[in-house]
Amino acid sequence: GLKIATIGGGSSYTPELIEGFIHYYNELPVQEIWLVDVVDGKEKLEIVGNLAKRMVKKAGVPIEIHLTLDRKEALKSADFVTTQFRVGMLEARGKDERIPLKHGVIGQETNGPGGLFKALRTIPVILDICREMEELCPNAWLINFTNPAGMVTEAVLRFSNIEKVVGLCNVPIGMEMGVAALLGVDPNRVRIDFAGLNHMVYGLDVFVDGISVKEQVMTLLTDPEKSITMQNIHAMGWEPEFLKALNVLPCPYHNYYYKSGEMLAEELKNYQEGGTRAEVVKKLEAELFELYKNPELAIKPPQLEKRGGAYYSEAAVRLIHSIYTDKRDIQTVNTRNNGAISNLPSDSAVEVSCIITSVGPKPIAVGELPMQVNGLVQQIKSFERAAINAAISGDYGTALLAMTINPLVPSDRIAKVILDEMLEAHKRYLPQF
Ligand code: G6P
Ligand code: MN
Repeated sequence: GLKIATIGGGSSYTPELIEGFIHYYNELPVQEIWLVDVVDGKEKLEIVGNLAKRMVKKAGVPIEIHLTLDRKEALKSADFVTTQFRVGMLEARGKDERIPLKHGVIGQETNGPGGLFKALRTIPVILDICREMEELCPNAWLINFTNPAGMVTEAVLRFSNIEKVVGLCNVPIGMEMGVAALLGVDPNRVRIDFAGLNHMVYGLDVFVDGISVKEQVMTLLTDPEKSITMQNIHAMGWEPEFLKALNVLPCPYHNYYYKSGEMLAEELKNYQEGGTRAEVVKKLEAELFELYKNPELAIKPPQLEKRGGAYYSEAAVRLIHSIYTDKRDIQTVNTRNNGAISNLPSDSAVEVSCIITSVGPKPIAVGELPMQVNGLVQQIKSFERAAINAAISGDYGTALLAMTINPLVPSDRIAKVILDEMLEAHKRYLPQF
């Protein structure tokens, strides 16, 4: 049987993951799941871990759930390591969201200044985990969900000895589900050809039963009542003529780039009314953990669907299953570009449709990105590379470069003000600076 180690096991998302492993148990013989967390997350780990134990028991599957604060114990001889940790927890997320907002810049945890700082905090930790994996489970696959998933995956590819790494996000699978709902067809019949970067991915073509329905989907999306989005992003609908001219399917996170003004106004309004998304999520989490404590509860409660991570388990377990069985189906993941998108660096992480094999994802060649989306993707990749380099080196100038070239930041001066304030606020989690 397989051993899974889940880092950040005390996350409120854990029941989602456990549900996936239960569901796939017959095809994916998981024997042990080790949920590991840091000391500050001990209480959450126990609550959610006990729920996980009740879930497997109720489902009647012989998966053992282990809880530990010892990461090495969890990693030892693991076959798959999944990461869903959040350095600095929701407190740090709140700062990522609030500080930029104070200076009139979109405060979001994976885009703009928030994404930069989440990368600066997370990359040193993922590289520590990689060093431990080399020693304790050198053959394991690292399935990284921790945001910013694209940058974190690229840091592993470029700065660690771990080759077997895949970055995963629920946006692609969520968009396929969204298209299925829009068309009223079974999600299994829908496939989207994806290319781009994490939270900057485009659907280049959309198929039902292998036949392109892109035109039809784009036309449906010109109706302001219809949209493809997720719980954490307020969709306002695209300008019909813009969407037609763009001629590819944008992802929900594109709202931050193509509707920056409206999204900033929206975030400011939410902030004034009750706080940023971190505050909303804190409340949701408190409610969820109250539910999780109930000894009668032995399933994933439907309230978890208020989080942005819908289909997280589906994506994770499907990926692990296809690697394990060499299934060679198509899934969209973050992996080394290797020329798939010909005008992005070879060693960068990209989010593309891939054939999933036992030796990893094989990206399907895209060639050059269409002209109308290439510019923004290139710009974000420059930002990501600067952010990763700053996370590694702790170089102030490189961090300022990253902050300034991010399209959501309007000037070098504002970039510096935000950078300095965030460096101070997150000091505890930035040993490299
Ligand atoms: C989407 C993104 C995730 C992100 C989540 C945030 O699912 O793909 O990368 O973590 O939204 O959701 P939350 O409920 O935490 O705001
Ligand atoms: Mn994501």
